[in-house]
Amino acid sequence: MGAETIRPHGGTLINRVMQGAERENLLEQARGLYQLKINTWTIADLDLIGVGAFSPLKGFMVEADYKLVVENMRLADGTVWSIPITLAVQAGVAEALKAGERVALVGEHDDVVYGILDVESIYEVDQKNEAVKIFKTDDTAHPGVQKLFSRSNVYVGGPVQVLNRPKPEKFEEFYFDPADTRRLFAEKGWRTVVGFQTRNPVHRAHEYIQKSAMEIVDALFLNPLVGETKSDDISADVRMRSYLVLLENYYPKDRVFLGVFPAAMRYAGPREAIFHAMVRKNYGCSHFIVGRDHAGVGDYYGTYEAQAIFSNFTAEELGITPLFFEHSFFCTKCGNMASSKTCPHDAADHLHLSGTKVRALLREGQCPPKEFTRPEVAQILIEGMQE
Ligand code: ADX
Repeated sequence: MGAETIRPHGGTLINRVMQGAERENLLEQARGLYQLKINTWTIADLDLIGVGAFSPLKGFMVEADYKLVVENMRLADGTVWSIPITLAVQAGVAEALKAGERVALVGEHDDVVYGILDVESIYEVDQKNEAVKIFKTDDTAHPGVQKLFSRSNVYVGGPVQVLNRPKPEKFEEFYFDPADTRRLFAEKGWRTVVGFQTRNPVHRAHEYIQKSAMEIVDALFLNPLVGETKSDDISADVRMRSYLVLLENYYPKDRVFLGVFPAAMRYAGPREAIFHAMVRKNYGCSHFIVGRDHAGVGDYYGTYEAQAIFSNFTAEELGITPLFFEHSFFCTKCGNMASSKTCPHDAADHLHLSGTKVRALLREGQCPPKEFTRPEVAQILIEGMQE
């Protein structure tokens, strides 16, 4: 099985990005339509639907898909899907819309017509239920729950057509659509590619699990999420610089591919791990790394819950092989990176630094130990803190 033959989720790589005369006609038509304002988060989702990263979705979820995704982690046709991809509209706006109508999707800050939505379904949801099912909590201190409750509980769903793409502010050369990555992986002759999701700088534990995975596959697709994250996560800009310096110094150039994932972070732990894996399959990955507390936040999820959730589905349904890794650390007695699977020593021999501790060190201009973070990466993070 090569990258070009990894089946997209649902069987077909969706393409809803309009080109040429068809696009021109639709842009003309959009002028006469209801102008529905959409925010940065929704613009990102729209674009990812358009390019097929969210295949088999062709649009924002209609009620039947939404309900089953929330309750059973499946679309109405039975395909595995764990995270609602929805478009919330204010109640007043919903009243102005009717099923069967078309609306223009317009950026709330720039008035760009990003796309057109064929409204098939307008529905009210129980957000508390959504929170509990998706995030396993309705605690408003959870960033995903907070975001959910800040939106209206009226959603509109239906297929979309993308007419304009959001323009990256920086690092445009690292934006690739699934069709691009699939082609590029195939051109490189990679038959197996492991995808790595991150919203953090790559510390030694990340590097360890990536490289452990690289021992058994042809290549690594380092695919950092660069969409909306919570305010205390390190900015995508600083992270990108840290990835570049790390790859330059410590990774084989011909076996690693860096490309961004421009979606918003949901912080939905186990549910998001499934979602992240399906999306990476669409980008052409055969394997996907799930380590400790994947996409977690605070202590809402068990350390390995994001791994356990995969057992709800068959290998055929998933169509991508998850690679599970134990909590990894540097062991001073072993003198190398390890996990409880490979290290016989006590916790006292393991180098543990909390995120808070690492941030405090960096803020003071100090590098964490090189066994925790590569010095070149730490330097970029220190500079980033001072910006
Ligand atoms: S995430 O929210 O994007 O998942 P993060 O960037 O911290 O967060 O993690 C990226 C991936 O590395 C996830 O699969 C996560 O489980 C894994 N991971 C992070 N730290 C460790 C660690 N110390 N040991 C094992 N896996 C880890």
